Amino acid sequence: MKRYVILISGRGSNMVSLLDAGLPGICAAVISNRADAAGLAAATSRGIATAVIDHRGFASRTEFDAALAAEIEQHQPDLVLLAGFMRILGDDFVRRFEGRLLNIHPSLLPAFPGVKTHAQALAAGVRLHGCSVHFVTPALDGGPIIAQAAVPVQAGDDEASLGRRVLAEEHRLYPRVARWFLEGKVRLVAGRVQLAGEIAAGGSLHVPQID
Ligand code: GAR
Repeated sequence: MKRYVILISGRGSNMVSLLDAGLPGICAAVISNRADAAGLAAATSRGIATAVIDHRGFASRTEFDAALAAEIEQHQPDLVLLAGFMRILGDDFVRRFEGRLLNIHPSLLPAFPGVKTHAQALAAGVRLHGCSVHFVTPALDGGPIIAQAAVPVQAGDDEASLGRRVLAEEHRLYPRVARWFLEGKVRLVAGRVQLAGEIAAGGSLHVPQID
């Protein structure tokens, strides 16, 4: 069985969607950089080991990254899933886990990297918004995209209403991509995403029906 670790910082709803998806692997641990992350209790109630590496306890990003990497390595994961993990990870950390480090981001990348993505989408006036799952590279929110789900922006949407519909798609998309990875159907090869045939033929894009 492949092993995976999930990193969170807060609510953990994407983590729950991964844990409840019956993935073909063992979740070895959920690790948070915040002791008050609500997701920790949800992991514990599912019998998953948790750990907290509080970034505030370290003098530098490098030291925090090293402690986080050491905690992760203890669990010998094949896959590390960032699920609402809100710390920027340094180049050394990212390179150490490159090819087995995934993130979900609440926009159709490369549009709207960073934070406040739903507000950014509304301000830009886009008609399609959504979420992306990508391999993590040193470029913030810039790694090779594996799959995306699109969400139409509706008249009258505000940050909260749009965010809710995007989040619902995140909860479908991330477990699907995690499953592909654990089944060996998606890989990072020479900096590019390699997908198994059946996924490459359309399965990595979820689009809404628009009349
Ligand atoms: C999710 O929308 C996730 O895509 C986003 O934070 C939220 C976490 O919610 N991640 C990022 O913005 C990463 N740059 P959750 O804790 O309920 O999964």
